[in-house]
Amino acid sequence: MHSDTAQARIPTADVLSEPSAPTWDPQQYLRHAGHRTRPFLDLLTRIPELPTSPARIADLGCGPGNVTALLAGRWPEARTTGFDLSPEMLHRATQEYAGPTTGGGSLDFRPGDITDWLPEEPYDLIVSNAALQWVPSHPGSFAAWIHGLRPGGTFAFQIPGNFTAPSHALLAQLCDTPRWRSRLAGHGARYIHLLEPAEYLARLTELGCAVEVWETTYHQLLQGPDPVLEWVKGTALRPVLTALGDDADAVDAFLTEYRDRLRAVYPSGPRGTVFPFRRIFAVARKEA
Ligand SMILES: C[S@@+](CC[C@H](N)C(=O)[O-])C[C@H]1O[C@@H](n2cnc3c(N)ncnc32)[C@H](O)[C@@H]1O
Repeated sequence: MHSDTAQARIPTADVLSEPSAPTWDPQQYLRHAGHRTRPFLDLLTRIPELPTSPARIADLGCGPGNVTALLAGRWPEARTTGFDLSPEMLHRATQEYAGPTTGGGSLDFRPGDITDWLPEEPYDLIVSNAALQWVPSHPGSFAAWIHGLRPGGTFAFQIPGNFTAPSHALLAQLCDTPRWRSRLAGHGARYIHLLEPAEYLARLTELGCAVEVWETTYHQLLQGPDPVLEWVKGTALRPVLTALGDDADAVDAFLTEYRDRLRAVYPSGPRGTVFPFRRIFAVARKEA
């Protein structure tokens, strides 16, 4: 299902075992909420009007719910549901955003695994922002998700496309050093199943959709000490932190080594630290 080109893109690490699901920290993740929300806003502008009103909307891998709330803001009459695996994220999302919406619709959050998620009723919009990279099998679900859309409905997603960037390459390399390999092999190189934009375009057009796919590199200017480390603590480092668990000494030692490598590649300048971040976008509209 996954192309050889996509599989070859990431620095290799010997995968000794399949890492367990990472635990998430909504507070850490939200530290860069502005930079993280911008790509979603760019995606949202390209999502066309929905075929029915009130619409039915799903947000797969909704995280802390702030992005799901933006969907409910654009379609306030809709019944919008965010699905996620992480109890921590679902708790935060429910506390902050669940309830009736201004247009008579509703916003709720439910446990759900994208890996086997299927539309349980016809949807007008299925969205996923910065989550499908955690689900290697996601292209295999496209047909079922598009089948579950109403005619004229849309499937839209955004994923990071920066897995060959130094931040991720250094993480994979460090996990694979003799010091860490026995505990962390494979934890820094989890994203081998992402496709390139042209491959997403081909798959979605083959399913009969009108498709737009594009990529953007955001040159993010981050503030504070070691901001790239703080950024990845909210996402790519989750599997490593989960694997090291309560071993505070190991966490400290790993973070120090990783921080030093990051500092060399992302130096701090007078106005902050530039952290280029490539992202891939797709909007697929089912035939009306
Ligand atoms: C980087 S966060 C993105 C959150 C949100 N969509 C946003 O844009 O802010 C990734 C989210 O995907 C969720 N996730 C990862 N694997 C998942 C899976 N198999 N099923 C459901 N959610 C998953 C994580 O729990 C996390 O909340």
